[in-house]
Amino acid sequence: MILDALIKIKDEVDTTLTFRRSCREGICGSCAMNINGKNGLACLLYIEPSSKPIEIQPLPHTYVVKDLVPDLTNFYNQYKSIEPWLKRKDVKAKGDKEYFQSREDRAKLDGMYECILCACCMTSCPSYWWNPEYYLGPAVLMQAYRWIADSRDQFTEERLAWVNDTMKLYRCHGIMNCTNCCPKGLDPAKAIVNLKEQVAETYKDGWKSMMTEQIVKNKGRESGMMYM
Ligand code: SF4
Ligand code: SF4
Ligand code: FES
Repeated sequence: MILDALIKIKDEVDTTLTFRRSCREGICGSCAMNINGKNGLACLLYIEPSSKPIEIQPLPHTYVVKDLVPDLTNFYNQYKSIEPWLKRKDVKAKGDKEYFQSREDRAKLDGMYECILCACCMTSCPSYWWNPEYYLGPAVLMQAYRWIADSRDQFTEERLAWVNDTMKLYRCHGIMNCTNCCPKGLDPAKAIVNLKEQVAETYKDGWKSMMTEQIVKNKGRESGMMYM
């Protein structure tokens, strides 16, 4: 694998060579890099039998910490911004049974929950290259939709209202680079289409005031003041 070659180079040629890796089996997402012009995981890509040199670069359009290590702070902050956890309005008491869902509802999460947050798709998306501060990008939008599609979550409308924004969502122009490079075979472009459809089907005029209230509440929380 490409990762084995990098480890060999670090061990025997240049100990200063810096890259991330952990699981070496496509689970942790840390060895994402650009290999011969395409984003992928070094631990899942074979070294093809050929005398041609292999060109390896850090993930494109990212700030580089060192060698093959990109700074993913912006990506992680955007992921955090979608509140990627189960949110309930009626919370069961401690010790109560878990929140059940039908097999059919559970199946709706297939193809999204498997994302390993490697950022291959984000950093191959031209729209994300141009507006990384504002556009949420394919992986984050797919995870936003993963919680919207979860039958146990009770903040579906708030989540849709939050993501319904010219810059956050509508910078996606269906270029499909994201889907074409995902090393886990996922389809973030399709999740974005589903997300846009659900916004269009459920949009209400009240969403803007709902978001204004939310922003005021968040600001109050940040400054330690109470706005109820
Ligand atoms: S489909 Fe959308 S998210 Fe995917 S690469 Fe194209 S513009 Fe980016
Ligand atoms: S959708 Fe695929 S490419 Fe994008 S972060 Fe998840 S696993 Fe990586
Ligand atoms: S080392 Fe974990 S995905 Fe490659």
